Amino acid sequence: MAAAQAVILWFILACYSDAQTLFERTEEAYNTTGICQRMACNTLEKLKQLENCVVILGDLQITLMERTEKKDFEKMIFKNLREVTGFVIFYRVKGLESLGQLFPNLARIRGDQVFNDFSLIVYDMEHLKEVGLYNLLKIDRGGVIVWLVPLACFVTTVNWKAIAPMARRVLSPSEGTMHCTSNCRCTNEMDTNKCWNTRIVLPVNKYCLSVKECEGLGGWQWNNTCIFECPIDFAKHTFSNGSITCVLCVNCNVICKSLLIQSTSSIEAAKRCVYINGSLRIHIRSVPEAMEELRAFLSRIQNVTDYIEIHGSVIITSLDFLSSLKYIGGQKLYNNKYSLVVHDMVNLQTLFTTNVTNNIIIGNGTMNFYRNPVLCLNEIDKLVPRFRDKPSEWDVAKDTNGYSGGCAFASVNLNVTILNETSVTISFPSLEEPDVHYSVLYIHLPLGSKKIFVPETCSESEWHAINVDVKPRKYGLVNITTLHPGSKYALCVETYEPKRNYIARSTIYNFSTPVGKPEPSFISELVAKNEEVVVIRWVDHLVYKPHIVRYELDVSIIDIHPKDVDSRDHCKDNFEEIDDFRHAVVYRPPAEYERGCESMCGVLSSSTKGALVENYFDVCSDLSDLGCNVEESPPPANSSFGKYVKTLSLNVSATKTDYQIGELAPFRDYRFRLRACTHDTCSRSAKGVVRTLRSEYADIPTVVYAIANEFGYISLSWRPPDLVNGPVLAYIIEVIPSIKVNEIAHLVPRTWCVRPDQSSIIVKYLVYKKYVIRVCSTTLASERACGEYVSVVVSTEYVKNWAWVALVFGLLLFTASVVAGRYWKRKKRVDDMIPLVENVYNECTTPSVMSEFIPFYSVLVNENTFEECHLIR
Ligand SMILES: *[C@@H]1O[C@H](CO)[C@@H](O)[C@H](O)[C@H]1NC(C)=O
Ligand SMILES: *[C@@H]1O[C@H](CO)[C@@H](O)[C@H](O)[C@H]1NC(C)=O
Ligand SMILES: *[C@@H]1O[C@H](CO)[C@@H](O)[C@H](O)[C@H]1NC(C)=O
Ligand SMILES: *[C@@H]1O[C@H](CO)[C@@H](O)[C@H](O)[C@H]1NC(C)=O
Ligand SMILES: *[C@@H]1O[C@H](CO)[C@@H](O)[C@H](O)[C@H]1NC(C)=O
Repeated sequence: MAAAQAVILWFILACYSDAQTLFERTEEAYNTTGICQRMACNTLEKLKQLENCVVILGDLQITLMERTEKKDFEKMIFKNLREVTGFVIFYRVKGLESLGQLFPNLARIRGDQVFNDFSLIVYDMEHLKEVGLYNLLKIDRGGVIVWLVPLACFVTTVNWKAIAPMARRVLSPSEGTMHCTSNCRCTNEMDTNKCWNTRIVLPVNKYCLSVKECEGLGGWQWNNTCIFECPIDFAKHTFSNGSITCVLCVNCNVICKSLLIQSTSSIEAAKRCVYINGSLRIHIRSVPEAMEELRAFLSRIQNVTDYIEIHGSVIITSLDFLSSLKYIGGQKLYNNKYSLVVHDMVNLQTLFTTNVTNNIIIGNGTMNFYRNPVLCLNEIDKLVPRFRDKPSEWDVAKDTNGYSGGCAFASVNLNVTILNETSVTISFPSLEEPDVHYSVLYIHLPLGSKKIFVPETCSESEWHAINVDVKPRKYGLVNITTLHPGSKYALCVETYEPKRNYIARSTIYNFSTPVGKPEPSFISELVAKNEEVVVIRWVDHLVYKPHIVRYELDVSIIDIHPKDVDSRDHCKDNFEEIDDFRHAVVYRPPAEYERGCESMCGVLSSSTKGALVENYFDVCSDLSDLGCNVEESPPPANSSFGKYVKTLSLNVSATKTDYQIGELAPFRDYRFRLRACTHDTCSRSAKGVVRTLRSEYADIPTVVYAIANEFGYISLSWRPPDLVNGPVLAYIIEVIPSIKVNEIAHLVPRTWCVRPDQSSIIVKYLVYKKYVIRVCSTTLASERACGEYVSVVVSTEYVKNWAWVALVFGLLLFTASVVAGRYWKRKKRVDDMIPLVENVYNECTTPSVMSEFIPFYSVLVNENTFEECHLIR
């Protein structure tokens, strides 16, 4: 699996040190032409040099202004600046509350140079309340970081996707934070609700405007939007001071004159009409989506005083949009005869809703239907009882409506037996007539579909059709075995009599397949938040989502066996480069799953198509049965090592779609398994592995004692680190002779490297009176993590407390040193002294132990002894 592309914390941390070096390069600005060179501002004076800049060639760095206050920025505004060709960094600028306040007209950041792939970096800004660069239209190259901005709101509400479409975005989550109460109200749709801040009021067309801009367009602010017309049931009211508002006014302006509906605008113009004093004529040639518009805007019409004529509208399949129609007056009639005229409607299949059909009152006149090829006569017949003047054969022409009159209702008694989640059996008795062809038609109803299915919508174009061979007086029997679980279907039977060329359809039956074993949830994010916390986030399979009652989550550490550590000589091998991508796994879910949060909601994750999030690749479905159906191991019991989680099993409530797991060991891989459960059963596991971040404080071994003799032998032992980033791979012992402070400053320590199971060593060095030594460890996360330096003094003074200990140890070690020394000689890695290193030590003498009689001296080393010994690099 390729490394998951994800935003990684190390970068953000690294930013600090990287940034500092960058900031030191300062260039002077050229103020005369409006074109300035790279600007690095870390004082207000330098910032003021931006005064006349229109374009900055290079980067704009505004950083480390740690003593500035809010009032310092109050009058500071650089209206001229439009463009920066490099990247822009704001870092640790105290008191600054809005970037837009400084650069209200900054429109473009080209990102010709980027800073670690990013070109707008707003980082560690204690007082920032908003980004607010409301004129920023484009970031050509490089991503956006807005992080460590505790007070900022409107970070994620900015339409970054439009500004920096293909780039990474690392955004501090601000929604839901207590202090950010005011959301954008550009539109009511969350997805399109984008804004830079609250100075801004928002019209329906999804743009954010200021109140002034709104008024400039001839609109006014009402209910947080910029409107040009009051909504239905409201009337415009102008105050004496000229400001405008809308006041409640139920059923005013509802009487309309005759309407001719031909276009989107005429549809919309009808939206207030309840009573039409005249006729309603609809003739829409080509307005896609017209059905939706009609349903939205003609739904209030109750009363038409004259007549209704609907013709030549390809898009209209049903008259259900006239959902409130109660009365057609017929005061004036079409051709002096008709109050309802429907003709040349090639796709019209159904008329009014049942409720309208059953309740409509026709004052006068009759109906006229012709050239409606797919409108069956039985549909028209439903309306006949509502007319006092019954239509003649000429008024409803049999040969030009409804399949030339050849469509009818087939009364077939369907019996649907559900076998399991993918299979049903359908049976029906044959009709009396011989020589009838039967087809079963079915369609998968999309989730949440509001489409109304009536027999006439049962058609071969959209529906699956199965021809059924039925003997007269026998049962027709059909098995359908390729259904989706937990889904709704519509089903009907069509009969065709070739002799009479006569088609009939049954009513529509609906059935649902059982849920069965659910598909697993999809782990969209698995991100290490710090050295001991991992956040998991998932989305559900759309089909199974409504049925999920809980999740099962289990976590297990991935063991590292000592033999795997042993299999390599970590003293010889190069330190493996750390793969930081292992700390975050972010995938975009497949189509049948809910959308993940593409950019905003992750802890660190933020994503753009193609840049950060990888598309999920399912080996199982692509390469059938590649061991994907193997038995899964059952969820483990809870267990721990030290204070860390080894294994953990949890039940998670169905309301959650994320979970945070703590007390994990630093820099270790953990496997997460998530199962979605219905009342009856749980899915397979969705799996993911993620590595916790490294602990800063880990990996440091402690010297427990060190002694040296007059012949240059140094013996020392150490305690393994209390906290480790993964296992210790090797220990490195560093020794420097301590002659005089100034001299050792130029020495590189001599080093010995030993295996991780060692905790003591005797080394031979040149003879000196005093040495400084330390022990370092190599772990998965650190090439060399070192403890404090300690001094070892070779001395001849006597301290009675230590005499016996020293004597025994001394003799033992002397013997051991010969043996061990030889053995370790093969293993040790010896670095030659190179007088190059910049180490500077404060000399730090420790109480030494002395004896006149014996050549070995031990110094018990503990932290207290060396506390005052600070070694400065
Ligand atoms: C005012 O706006 C809110 C939110 O956008 C909306 O839910 C509400 O219906 C609006 N009120 C009126 C009277 O239109
Ligand atoms: C309807 O229109 C006619 C003229 O076409 C007018 O005389 C009548 O007053 C109108 N009725 C209503 C209720 O507006
Ligand atoms: C049906 O129509 C009547 C009057 O026309 C109305 O009061 C009722 O709310 C309607 N019912 C539905 C379900 O639309
Ligand atoms: C459902 O039943 C059909 C027919 O009995 C069978 O072929 C199919 O394998 C079953 N499917 C499942 C998921 O049990
Ligand atoms: C494991 O511990 C968690 C709480 O830390 C608890 O909710 C869960 O029930 C435990 N699981 C088992 C199998 O004991």
